[in-house]
Amino acid sequence: MPDIKYLGHSAFLLTTANTRIIIDPFLSDNPLAVEKAENIAVDYVFLTHGHDDHLGDGIMIATNNHALVIAPNELAKYCAKQGCRTHGMNIGGAFTFPFGRVKLTNAMHSSGSDLGGDALAYMGNPCGFLITLGSKTIYHAGDTGLFMDMQLIGATNKIDVALLPIGDNFTMGIEDAVLAAELLCPGLVIPMHYGTFDDIAVDPHEFARRAEQKNLHTVILEPGAGLTV
Ligand code: NI
Ligand code: MN
Repeated sequence: MPDIKYLGHSAFLLTTANTRIIIDPFLSDNPLAVEKAENIAVDYVFLTHGHDDHLGDGIMIATNNHALVIAPNELAKYCAKQGCRTHGMNIGGAFTFPFGRVKLTNAMHSSGSDLGGDALAYMGNPCGFLITLGSKTIYHAGDTGLFMDMQLIGATNKIDVALLPIGDNFTMGIEDAVLAAELLCPGLVIPMHYGTFDDIAVDPHEFARRAEQKNLHTVILEPGAGLTV
C-alpha cells in the first residue's frame, strides 16, 4: 500500500484501499499515454503547475469524477472558475486530508498558462508534493531544476518513493537528477518527464545506471506499469 501506476510523462495514479489520486494527468495530448482521460476514476486530482503537460486533462477528470483538485492557490482558483471543487495550498504548507497529509514543496520552474487567452495567465508558483499515505511518503517533484533545499526535504522526511524529472531542457537532466536523489535519500527513485517529446528524449537506463552507482535503488516504469510500495 499504496499502488503506484505510471501513466507517462509526469502522470501517476496512487491507489489505496479507499483513495484514488491522480497527479498531473496529461493524457489526451500525450503521444505515449496508454489510458484515456474519459476512463480515469479518481477521488483527487493533484496539479503541480499550470503548464499544459501537467494541468492536462485535470479539469475534465475532476469534473467527470466530482474529484477534489489540490493545487497551488492560483491554479486552484483557475480550476474553480472552470467548475471544479478545489483545495488551494502554497509552498511550505501542509494539510491533512481524509486519506493523509500533503505538503507543498518548492519547485524551481515556472507556471504560466496560455489557456487564459492571448496573454499568459499567471498560475501561481509551481510546486512539488510530499504525499503521506499510511506509513509511506511519496515525493512528486513536479517540474524542477536541482536545488540545494532538496537536502532539507530529505533530512526532514523519510521519503519512500521519489518521482523525479530527468528529461533535461525544461527540468533537471540525468546528472542533476542523480544529485537530487542523493540529497533526498529516498528508498526508491522512479524517473519521469522524459521521452514524451524530442527535446526531452533522454535514456532512463542511463539515469538508473548512474543512480545505482550511488546506491540509489531505481525502477523505470513504462507507461501503464506500476508497483506497490
Ligand atoms: Ni512545466
Ligand atoms: Mn513539464
